[in-house]
Amino acid sequence: MIRSVIRGSGSALPARCVSNAELAERVDTTDEWIVERTGIRQRYLAGEGETTASLATDAARAALDDAGFDADSIGLIILATSTPDNTFPASATKVQAALGTPGGIAFDVQAVCSGFLYALTTADAMLRTGMAKRALVIGAETFSRILDWEDRTTCVLFGDGAGALVLEAEEFRDEAGAPGIIASALHADGAQHDLLYVDGGPSTTQTVGHLRMKGREVFRHAVVNLAQVLREVLDGAGLTAEEIDWVVPHQANARILDATARKLGLPPEKVIVTVDQHANTSAASVPLAFDHGVRSGKIARGDLVMFEAMGGGFTWGASLARY
Ligand code: COA
Repeated sequence: MIRSVIRGSGSALPARCVSNAELAERVDTTDEWIVERTGIRQRYLAGEGETTASLATDAARAALDDAGFDADSIGLIILATSTPDNTFPASATKVQAALGTPGGIAFDVQAVCSGFLYALTTADAMLRTGMAKRALVIGAETFSRILDWEDRTTCVLFGDGAGALVLEAEEFRDEAGAPGIIASALHADGAQHDLLYVDGGPSTTQTVGHLRMKGREVFRHAVVNLAQVLREVLDGAGLTAEEIDWVVPHQANARILDATARKLGLPPEKVIVTVDQHANTSAASVPLAFDHGVRSGKIARGDLVMFEAMGGGFTWGASLARY
C-alpha cells in the first residue's frame, strides 16, 4: 500500500503589507471593526509583476528546497486557485515552465477557499495509484484583483499569497507514527452558489467580475459543515479529536476558527492561526498556515495534523496527515 508523505513546505507573500489603519484611509472602515469581527490586522497585496503564478513559483521553490528535491524529480503539479493569471492555460503550467521541468502532469483545481483540500486529495489519489512519484501541491491567489474596493463588507477580508507542499509516494509501513496522508473527505453543495460567488466570468459576462458574499450566512454554514467533515475524517481514520496535535484551518475569520475548535472540543492552542497576519488568502491559506506552523517550530515531524477548509460553491473538505 502506498501513502503520500509530506516532504517539505514553502510559502510566499507579496512585498507590500497593508495594515487595517492604511486600508481605513481609502475604505469606510476602522481597525477596531476589522479586528473585532474577523481577527485580521494586516494583509499582503500583490503589486506590479506579482501574479498568482509568480507567487506559486516562489512557494514551490521554497518547498522543494525544504524537501531537498530537484524540480525535475516532480512528476505532478496541482495548483489550487480561483485567480489564475489567465483564463487558460492553467497557471500550474506557468509554474512548471518557471521551474524548468516540462513533461510531467500540471493542472489547476478550482474550489475557491477549499481548493487546497481538493488539490491535496487529488494529488494523494494520483500518487497512490502510481501516476507520479513526487508532487507539488500549491495554493496561490491574488484575490485583491477580484475585490470590489468600494464594498467594505468584503474588501477588508482578503489578501494575496501562496503556499506549497511537496508530497512523495512511499510504501506504507504499518507501524505507529508512520507518516503520510491518512484520511480525507470532500463535499460540495452547488445550491448555495449565491452566498459566495464572483459576478463575472468568460462564459457569462466576458469579464473577470468581483467577489460577492453574504458574510453572515457563509459564517453559519461554515461552522456546521466544518464540524461535520472533521468528524467524518476522524471516524474514517479511527482516531479521536484528542489525538490531533494541530489543526491547520482555512484562515477566513478568527471567530470561525474558535467556533469550529470549540465544536470539536479542541483547545485553541492546537489551532494554527495566521488570519491576523495574512487575512483570507483563499486556496493559499492552508499551506501558508502549515508552512508558518512548521517554520515557527510549532508543527514537528510525527505530529498528527488536520487540514480543513470551506469556500464558495459551497465546497468543503478535510484531510488528516501524520507529518
Ligand atoms: N467596516 C465597518 N463596518 C462594517 C464593515 C467594515 N469593513 N463591513 C460591514 N460593516 C457593518 C455593516 O454595514 C453592518 O452595519 P449595520 O448594522 O449598520 O447594517 C454591521 O457592520 C454588521 O454587518 P454584518 O455583515 O452583520 O457583520 P458580521 O458580524 O456578520 O461580520 C463578516 C461580517 C463578513 C466579518 C462575517 O459575517 C464573516 O466573517 N462571515 C464569514 C465570511 C467568510 O469567512 N467568508 C469566506 C469563507 S471562505
